[in-house]
Amino acid sequence: MAVKNRRIFLKQTSLLGMGLITAPLSLTKGKCSLTPPQTQGPFYPLQFPLDQNNNLTVIDGHKKAAFGETIVIRGCVLTEDCQPLRARVEIWQACASGRYNHDYDPNPAPIDPNFQYWGYATTDDQGKYSFITIKPGGYPVTDDWVRPPHIHFKITAPKLPPLITQLYFSEEEKLNQKDRILQRVPPHQRNLVMMDLKADDSLKVRNGQFNIILNQTPELV
Ligand SMILES: [Fe+2]
Repeated sequence: MAVKNRRIFLKQTSLLGMGLITAPLSLTKGKCSLTPPQTQGPFYPLQFPLDQNNNLTVIDGHKKAAFGETIVIRGCVLTEDCQPLRARVEIWQACASGRYNHDYDPNPAPIDPNFQYWGYATTDDQGKYSFITIKPGGYPVTDDWVRPPHIHFKITAPKLPPLITQLYFSEEEKLNQKDRILQRVPPHQRNLVMMDLKADDSLKVRNGQFNIILNQTPELV
């Protein structure tokens, strides 16, 4: 998708708002199930991009858009009682080749100079947020471990402990099953950090939903 088209596409998705979120929330006994935390990993940005928004596929001033498959992620940030939260949602991830824009990433895969790698969104009064990004590539960690495509999330809301977690793609079953980070999540909670990508004629790109449920228990000091 060319830069111009992606900008038009971003406008269209803004106009669409979040009205297309129809998937049911993860309800347990009338409550929303807490999103399990996961490790932050080593590649949280050391420097943040100048272009700071929720569209990681286009960088201001660049003629080319990011390489790879554009996807849309939409969801809500909610309490355990399924009430919407005003929150800041940060994401960071590898580009389509599986490389982070980070000094300590040893992966020899090429960096994509047109990918934003990090972005943030703020939720509206219904708790809704959205991102336009690229489906990340997997990357090797050891000789016998390849991390599946995943996106790192950090969610902060006033007066609540922050949540750091990772989101996976259900279509990457083989790599997901062997991933040492995902396997630390209790089996019955893994569906809470798993996203289905679905075609959507109105958006013309695949999109998925990730609802995030924050723990309201104050942090013990
Ligand atoms: Fe990662």
